[in-house]
Amino acid sequence: MAKIQGVILAVEPLTDRITSLHIGAVQDGALPSYEAGAHLEFDLPNGETRAYSLVSFDAKFDTPDSYLVAVQREYDGKGGSKYMHGLRVGDVVTFSPPKNDFPLNTSAPAVLLAGGIGITPMISMASALKVAEQDFSLIFAGRTEADMAFCSRLRDALGDKLHLHFDDQSGIIDLDSIISKLGDAHLYVCGPRKMIDVARAKADGADIAPERIHFELFEAAEAASGDVPFEVQINDGTVFTIPVGKTIVEVLEENDIDVMYDCQRGDCGICQCDVLAGVPDHRDVVLSQAERDAGEIMQICVSRAKSPRLVLDI
Ligand code: FES
Repeated sequence: MAKIQGVILAVEPLTDRITSLHIGAVQDGALPSYEAGAHLEFDLPNGETRAYSLVSFDAKFDTPDSYLVAVQREYDGKGGSKYMHGLRVGDVVTFSPPKNDFPLNTSAPAVLLAGGIGITPMISMASALKVAEQDFSLIFAGRTEADMAFCSRLRDALGDKLHLHFDDQSGIIDLDSIISKLGDAHLYVCGPRKMIDVARAKADGADIAPERIHFELFEAAEAASGDVPFEVQINDGTVFTIPVGKTIVEVLEENDIDVMYDCQRGDCGICQCDVLAGVPDHRDVVLSQAERDAGEIMQICVSRAKSPRLVLDI
């Protein structure tokens, strides 16, 4: 679909690191509709894109007058958040139409679990559940209240359906307790990799059907200390070296090898491929522990290698 141009209508700092942007249509008229959980992918000046979830406190998802996103400044990212934080009222931005990789089922009770900036899609989900008169609760955890965006608006909007958790006051959130009280609700998790990994493992341990667990990662893959280059061999025998700081997808694309991918964060599963030889170093949140241990498939947008070479079915 054709890209959309929008104009920045308002910029509001929410915390030291998080700023919200209201975006309107460049020409008079409404913007495309979306559903709770959807995001926009913004074009960056360096040719890359960056995804931000759409925030709605009032569930006005149909042809809205404006979009609201919240952007957290990343200190060691690739510059996308710096560009977004540099936007001012009147600036024009280009983005893809809303896309939803994190759909909400409003016909089932829900527990929404958000960590840090992962609150953004959850606000839209809570609004949609409220309008649908569905049973839900929103658990929002962060290091301190000062680090967490939208707390006071959420208190006003959700009342006792909101449970705020501040690590500096209460320690690390007790996911066992949340999972044990899930009942027949679906669990939606959005936040850092560790929160998703632990929630999935605990849900698995409690025999909760995977179809009831939904998650979206809110963290780009970063180089880990100790990363080293490794080789990837594809079906025609060509071998590529994957340096530190680049992904398999990036290197294959640079060499005109067609690969499918989407999120580039390791949470959609689109880039998954078969491993014919070698040992993957899994960094996604898609695979189960059993799949990771088997080492027969991997997500090539984030995962690397523990062995000097991987032979992939590409
Ligand atoms: S592109 Fe989404 S998991 Fe790799």
